[in-house]
Amino acid sequence: MQIRFLGHACFELSDGSDTVLIDPFLSGNPKAAIAADDAAATTILLTHGHGDHFGDTVSIAKRTGAPVVAIVEIADELEQEGVQVHDPNLGGTVRFDWGSVKLVPAWHTSTTPKGTVNTPAGLVVNFHDTIVYHLGDTCLFSDLQLVGKRAPIDIALMCIGGHYTMDSTDAVEAAQLVGASTVIPCHYNTFPAIEADAAAFKSDVESATRSNVVVLEPGETHST
Ligand code: NI
Ligand code: MN
Repeated sequence: MQIRFLGHACFELSDGSDTVLIDPFLSGNPKAAIAADDAAATTILLTHGHGDHFGDTVSIAKRTGAPVVAIVEIADELEQEGVQVHDPNLGGTVRFDWGSVKLVPAWHTSTTPKGTVNTPAGLVVNFHDTIVYHLGDTCLFSDLQLVGKRAPIDIALMCIGGHYTMDSTDAVEAAQLVGASTVIPCHYNTFPAIEADAAAFKSDVESATRSNVVVLEPGETHST
């Protein structure tokens, strides 16, 4: 499996035939690795409705025909746009030929694109038996440890930028709670408010945990 970091909180999981695209904020993203028109997707997954995650969801879904998995209030609005959706709520799992995605809690805020206040999520993705946990825009909270107890996490995608999410110090504790084999930091250095030192985060996590930290520049790929 290949996981490509496309900038901010956007990742692409692929195996050569299936392509799962998470939080496709590309247009207007100063760190976007590709243009929205060049994004591939067989399925699109959303953590929540903020613009730096929802991004180009509608245009990519319409161009590719990929269904979108999003929490029910966001899915309802996407369906009105003519996009094919799956509409779980927290705790729900949606299954595909390539695996599954489960929505888990994330402590943050969210609004739908039309402005309805709703609940954000983290995503536990089983992609051909590799478990990838995108924590979403969460702060640190102790129930993060429950996710890894239910399914051992191979790769955790974790915000470290602070201000809108947990910072790189709290994320070290989150890495301990999640217990993933590999941690990939995200949601930092996109804007001045979320500057973070990923090299220091890597060193701190690798001192405190058994996790390996892989720092990806936008456009770089990690292969499992
Ligand atoms: Ni957010
Ligand atoms: Mn965000």
